[in-house]
Amino acid sequence: MSKVTVVGAGNVGATCVNALAIREIAGEVVLLDIKEGLAEGKVLDMYQTATLMEFDTNLVGVTNDYEKTANSDVVVITSGMPRKPGMTREELIGVNAGIVKGVVSNILKYSPNAILLIISNPMDTMTYLAHKVSGLPANRVFGMGGALDSSRFRGYLAKALNATPNDVEGMVIGGHGDTTMIPLIDKASYKGVPVSQFLSQEKLNEISAATMVGGATLTKMLGTSAWYAPGAAAARIVESIINDEKKMIPSCVCLNGEYGQKDIYIGAPAIIGRNGVERIVEIELNEAEKAAFEKSAEAVRKTNNVLHEIGAL
Ligand code: LAC
Repeated sequence: MSKVTVVGAGNVGATCVNALAIREIAGEVVLLDIKEGLAEGKVLDMYQTATLMEFDTNLVGVTNDYEKTANSDVVVITSGMPRKPGMTREELIGVNAGIVKGVVSNILKYSPNAILLIISNPMDTMTYLAHKVSGLPANRVFGMGGALDSSRFRGYLAKALNATPNDVEGMVIGGHGDTTMIPLIDKASYKGVPVSQFLSQEKLNEISAATMVGGATLTKMLGTSAWYAPGAAAARIVESIINDEKKMIPSCVCLNGEYGQKDIYIGAPAIIGRNGVERIVEIELNEAEKAAFEKSAEAVRKTNNVLHEIGAL
């Protein structure tokens, strides 16, 4: 029986647990939060949907009791502050670095063999930090961004095409930041046909721009950062791990020479299975995409350097 822990019972963490439960992805899902009663309450509410949604997943909510997370196969870390309207993800680094570090060390005490999936923002840098402080091999620590950004990209494309998002393919690589994301417009397709055959370049540029600020747009509308798609993206990745699906999912992965980069966590397509990141897929980028990737990596590195400046690493 598989066991998954989600740390942080905020909107993203709770939505992730809900998706894991409804799809019966794991036998047991533990939700942990530092706020007394919050995880217990959210889980009790969800558990009371079991007969309505017809799932048998065992759900456990705990306040800071890491013992209950013992022997988890996968741990999703959502802890930290979400952004407020007008904030960038990068501005959260000071607060969230300490929180993520603490969570990683507590988790590893009880689940030394777990795969860690990081959602906390700034996600690329928090994943880099989690990798460094955990000492785990890179395949067992990765971040969620690309799955979310690609889903948003496919959604925007589908709306413009008047199609269902599931008939649209598309990937976003690079950093999970408003200016670091790279929607791969030239490689996007509608049932295998390049989207440029249906949409003008102007429309495609508009979609690309909307995708990049997808999270910020929602933060402005909601007053806090989004949760349905971020939670579902995490659950989808967990599903590919637990069921060893080996799906190709754009994820925040550790590059070791791929795409000309080293010692960095950034978005790239990866095969996700029972061992976490089983393979990084190196696709051929055109000149503009290559330049964008380099610029993106530079920006992510700059944020990573802040970890040293604030003494987190
Ligand atoms: C977003 C946050 C989760 O993009 O980064 O909505």
